[in-house]
Amino acid sequence: MSAVTLFSRSPAETEELGRLFGSLLTRGTFVALHGELGSGKTCFTRGIVAAAAPASAHLVASPTFAIMNEYQGATPLYHFDFYRLASAGEIAELGFEEYFLGDGICVVEWSERLDYLLPGEHLGVTLEHAGDDRRRLTFEAAGPGPETLLARFAELLSSEKFL
Ligand SMILES: Nc1ncnc2c1ncn2[C@@H]1O[C@H](COP(=O)(O)OP(=O)(O)O)[C@@H](O)[C@H]1O
Ligand SMILES: [Mg+2]
Repeated sequence: MSAVTLFSRSPAETEELGRLFGSLLTRGTFVALHGELGSGKTCFTRGIVAAAAPASAHLVASPTFAIMNEYQGATPLYHFDFYRLASAGEIAELGFEEYFLGDGICVVEWSERLDYLLPGEHLGVTLEHAGDDRRRLTFEAAGPGPETLLARFAELLSSEKFL
């Protein structure tokens, strides 16, 4: 498993990183976000949606009440927030598993709640506070598809002077 780490200095920069990352996501990609409250998961997701489903980027908010929001792009994008769910069992009972194995793009906040439901092939993104408006973002790939995508993301970051 390879990893890419970089720093963001502002919400706008985190959103821009989401946009670059989102421009590479393809059908069936599963993005597992990690990070405490306020680390920037929703901000990063807004960038992803701006790239993958541009018409609805302005709608992206912390979907804590909705659990799942769907955005229409070339491929449907499902944004989950499992903060209020206690366990994988509860998530399975709500029937969300079928989205995880489908053709859409899934972006999941509080993905640690998924436990055994986490697909083997996924991209992990960990966001951490690094002082004031700084955030450390660590990208990890699990599986061949995600590895290829992460390599392309690293190339894109260096061409955009992020790395
Ligand atoms: N570099 C940064 N990246 C993202 N958010 C930041 C950054 N610096 C400050 N913030 C602030 O942190 C908060 C992140 O909120 P949000 O994206 O909803 O986090 P989460 O979804 O992880 O709870 C926002 O209030 C945002 O303005
Ligand atoms: Mg959030």
